[in-house]
Amino acid sequence: MSEELIYLEATELESLVSHKLQAAGMSQEHAEEVGRHLRYADARGIHSHGAVRVEYYAERIAKGGLTLKPAFKFEQTGPSTGIFHGDNGSGHVAAKEGLFHAIKLAQDTGVGIVGISKMGHSGMLSYYADIAAQSDLICLTVCQSDPMAVPFGGTEPYFGTNPIAFSAPTQGERPIIFDMATTVQAWGKILDARSKHLEIPNNWAVDVQGQPTTDPYKVQGLLPIAGPKGYGLMMMVDILSGSLLGLPFGKHVSSMYSDLSKGRNLGHLHIVINPAYFTDLRQFKENLSTMIAELHENQPTKGFDQVLYPGELAEKIQAESDIKGIPIVREIYDYLISETIHFDKYDHSDTFAEKE
Ligand code: NAI
Repeated sequence: MSEELIYLEATELESLVSHKLQAAGMSQEHAEEVGRHLRYADARGIHSHGAVRVEYYAERIAKGGLTLKPAFKFEQTGPSTGIFHGDNGSGHVAAKEGLFHAIKLAQDTGVGIVGISKMGHSGMLSYYADIAAQSDLICLTVCQSDPMAVPFGGTEPYFGTNPIAFSAPTQGERPIIFDMATTVQAWGKILDARSKHLEIPNNWAVDVQGQPTTDPYKVQGLLPIAGPKGYGLMMMVDILSGSLLGLPFGKHVSSMYSDLSKGRNLGHLHIVINPAYFTDLRQFKENLSTMIAELHENQPTKGFDQVLYPGELAEKIQAESDIKGIPIVREIYDYLISETIHFDKYDHSDTFAEKE
């Protein structure tokens, strides 16, 4: 893929994404929300979850693998708990709607725990964590993704790259937003190395024997972060966002790239905590701001200019995007402005095949 970049205004990027998804068949309301979500990811430098995904979403829509008029339903299951039934509609929309219910429960009862049951891909988790933090709430949000990671000591992929995001409000500054996959690297980074004919570091992935590999073409599984610890975290995410909601778990979770004509039945869980039910809210936020200030004063080690708080790098990239525009690879832009809905390249059964 060409690395030529063009810089777009936020509204232009949102509108291009939205129009392409509407051309594929998505409703205007849902397409506009996906547009806002992908713009957020690209503006914060997380391009793996930005406009690069539009063609894949468009292919899934065109092949019938996303419910276009989902029968969303919120079922409150306890004073602070509920399930948002996603009906295999857009994960971006279902997870956001579910979040609003979790926020309301947390505001009314101190905590809100809402599972989103059966949805499509829900994107970059910071998006949800950020919204909750802007309402002075703490948020822990997790979701399932397709099985690509080998369990610690294993040879066969079992869990997804199962991400975790956490946010907390601060006094004055933007919230702290920690957001990561539980694998060392995303699959997209392996594809990137293949396209550039580069070796990969030996702690990213394993070959068919479960041995670390530096050859991106031999990858048959991604490695969890920090060995057994990341393995434990990805299992935790799968239990919270899969088994807890009665959904497929582990290797039974649907693959992103196979059978694009069927809904993915993915799960997501938001845990929203109202700090005002535990401590003085103002003091809490001031303490987090003090924490950030103290971290900034921490003497940086060789190769670092400053210690950053989680999410700060994305904030810096966002600030730059606000001034310069959001960088988008030319090839993605050309696709967005074209008449083509998709190029039929995402539907394949071998997860680790070269095709992207
Ligand atoms: P990453 O490696 O870019 O960042 C991980 C965390 O480290 C972030 O909180 C970031 O703020 C922090 N960080 C990075 N550099 C730092 C520094 N110098 N100082 C302090 N903190 C720093 O994230 P990763 O693992 O590549 O995930 C990317 C995105 O992919 C996430 O937004 C995640 O939600 C999304 N994702 C979504 C999936 C899905 O199925 N919906 C599956 C997997 C990931």
